[in-house]
Amino acid sequence: MGTQCLLIDGGGRLGGELRVQGAKNSALPLLAASVLCRGETVFHNCPRLSDVFAACRILTCLGCRCRMEEHSVVVTNDEIACTSVPDELMREMRSSIIFLGAVLGRTGSCMLSLPGGCVLGPRPIDMHLDALRRLGAVITDQHGIITATAPIGLHGARVTLPFPSVGATENTMLAAVTAKGETVILNAAREPEIRDLAAFLNRCGAKIRGAGESRIEIEGVEKLHGCTYSVMPDRIASVTYLSAAAATGGTICLTNTAPQEYDAVSAVFEEAGCRVYGYQDRMYLHAPTSLRPVNRIRTMPYPGFPTDAQAIVMAALCCAKGTSVFEERIFESRYKHVDDLNRMGADIQVSGATAVVRGVPKLYGAKVRATDLRGGAALLIAGLAAEGQTELSALSHIDRGYEEIETAFRALGAQIRRTERGEEDRICRMS
Ligand code: EPZ
Repeated sequence: MGTQCLLIDGGGRLGGELRVQGAKNSALPLLAASVLCRGETVFHNCPRLSDVFAACRILTCLGCRCRMEEHSVVVTNDEIACTSVPDELMREMRSSIIFLGAVLGRTGSCMLSLPGGCVLGPRPIDMHLDALRRLGAVITDQHGIITATAPIGLHGARVTLPFPSVGATENTMLAAVTAKGETVILNAAREPEIRDLAAFLNRCGAKIRGAGESRIEIEGVEKLHGCTYSVMPDRIASVTYLSAAAATGGTICLTNTAPQEYDAVSAVFEEAGCRVYGYQDRMYLHAPTSLRPVNRIRTMPYPGFPTDAQAIVMAALCCAKGTSVFEERIFESRYKHVDDLNRMGADIQVSGATAVVRGVPKLYGAKVRATDLRGGAALLIAGLAAEGQTELSALSHIDRGYEEIETAFRALGAQIRRTERGEEDRICRMS
């Protein structure tokens, strides 16, 4: 059996309506948060992704019962029987680190190893550990094995994050909700996923104020109970489909989306000449035949332009009529998609944190390989816009964040199918 790949016959305009999946980056901390909730918790609008399945396996390993039916996950959690997460589960995804705050908060101890996830440059967890220490945790890191205990329980504290890290904010919130006394997080991340996590925890009995702002106040409560909660829509998946429409001169409408959560990206699409219109949970985009270049796109913490949209929007601007400039300010190594975009005929030069994208008249189909989740999505978008066939491999990266991406794009009229590489080779040999 060969490895799977996507075969994309590019050149057609995308058009039609698509319902956007629930947010991966919200579902994962929410599933971790369910460790804190006694009884049954039901999550609706949960995307069916390999990272979500990995989070469910971690929950099971901790002693929770966890089942996924369609897009709902039911977690039953009466007792946490185990407080360590096996290394192979930790390596599957970066967000496994969020279990640290939750398990520690619930049981007073936790052992896990350093997490995996997309390789976007160094991804330390120092801010997570420092914040938990402020709340009274005693933490050791021995050759990548993190052991955390709270011998006299966790207590509220003032935690100032050196950078508004999404994960460190989530971990601190999870540890603080059942700590004794009040915690104030300063310079907290303001991403919509933080608001979603706080809304869920408050529904379970927590007392959190200010989520979505730089200062979050948490009054510790004794325990949390389960509830039913619907995961917010995925803003980066939304931006991916919009960018593909922009790249192909298409017109699409998204439903189950929250347009106000990606204003910074919509502004870029407008600058590139697209007409965008968001209303309630719908977003409409109409693209011109060719895009205008965009002056300078600098990735920033929310509400700035998201780093997760950098590669995705770059793919659309490869064929703009002029030069666009990107500045990656969040991760050190997030231009791995550039080599393959250039292989498809793009003209992109990277120097440190800056990428200069000179618009070319056309991209051409090629054999390319995803190196990370959003970089893989960028290559897919380029394949949709290119002339000829693109073969995109290493799909495990893409499957971590997009539910059946080929089905979603086919609904928008794309010519795309998933196949086994071996199968294609066999067909070629026979013909
Ligand atoms: C979250 O990662 C997202 N992942 C990422 O999504 C996203 O790119 C990122 O936030 C930024 O928006 C999930 O939500 C599961 P950070 P996270 O902590 O929490 C440095 C995607 O494609 N840092 O805000 O890991 C870090 O190295 C992905 O869906 C430290 O130095 O991001 C980075 O440069 C990938 N020490 C910056 O902060 C720390 O202890 C931002 O990281 C923590 C972070």
